[in-house]
Amino acid sequence: MSTSKERRSVLIAGNWKMYKSLGEALELTVEISSGLPPSAEPLVAIFPPAIALAAVAERLQGSPKIIAVGAQNIHFEKEGAFTGEISAEMVSAAGGPMVLLGHSERRHIFGETDEAVGKKVARALAAGLTPVLCVGEKLDERETNRTNQVVSRQLEAGIAGVSDVAQLGRVVIAYEPVWAIGTGKTASPSQGQEVHKHLRSELRAAFVARHGSADRAERTLIIYGGSAKPDNAAELLQEPDIDGLLVGGASLKSDSFLKICRAAT
Ligand code: 13P
Repeated sequence: MSTSKERRSVLIAGNWKMYKSLGEALELTVEISSGLPPSAEPLVAIFPPAIALAAVAERLQGSPKIIAVGAQNIHFEKEGAFTGEISAEMVSAAGGPMVLLGHSERRHIFGETDEAVGKKVARALAAGLTPVLCVGEKLDERETNRTNQVVSRQLEAGIAGVSDVAQLGRVVIAYEPVWAIGTGKTASPSQGQEVHKHLRSELRAAFVARHGSADRAERTLIIYGGSAKPDNAAELLQEPDIDGLLVGGASLKSDSFLKICRAAT
């Protein structure tokens, strides 16, 4: 493990997507919080459906293990006539300090553009949330050697509205190759590492462009998502630039999510 990695925490995050009713979400929350030792590492975050967020955050109060709660999306405006949307401020007031932004399902099913994702990242930071900016290439983009180009574009647009070094330092990046999401096909640890390393070098340049030190990029968490499971978690986490996992399917059951958290210690 490299020295720089030792300076970073490991983050295990569960994206529950559009699964779990309120009752089920609370049940899973209790199972996770009671199954985790109160140790500082790994950092753990859960992203329930928005309708369960406040209740989940409330249920976690007093949990021996600190578990951050987040929303799966927000609107980029502070408030307004946007039926069906939720704002960063609402997430924060509901007890959620984090938010996933630019998830590939938002980009490819709901048509979210790079520009919209960038506005959301800026909005989230202004509201005091920790944004998890998701990037990742589709299969045809990988097959035509455009992976780095695609993730660079998404990263650049995602942080375009962040001019402040301290704010940039609060952004978490999630690399989620679209072809690995929900398919059971995981990127190999070396495929993941290659892209994470590329993203970190892009971040170095981004910090410098904002008159910060390139070293700040060594502190940014870059986590991997795409069919992460108990049996591949440890090997992915061994890579020097893979700082955690964003787990979909395997986060919906406490036993598999807890196993992944244990693999991260
Ligand atoms: P799976 O773990 O189900 O592949 O989902 C990954 C994901 O999209 C997490 O955000």
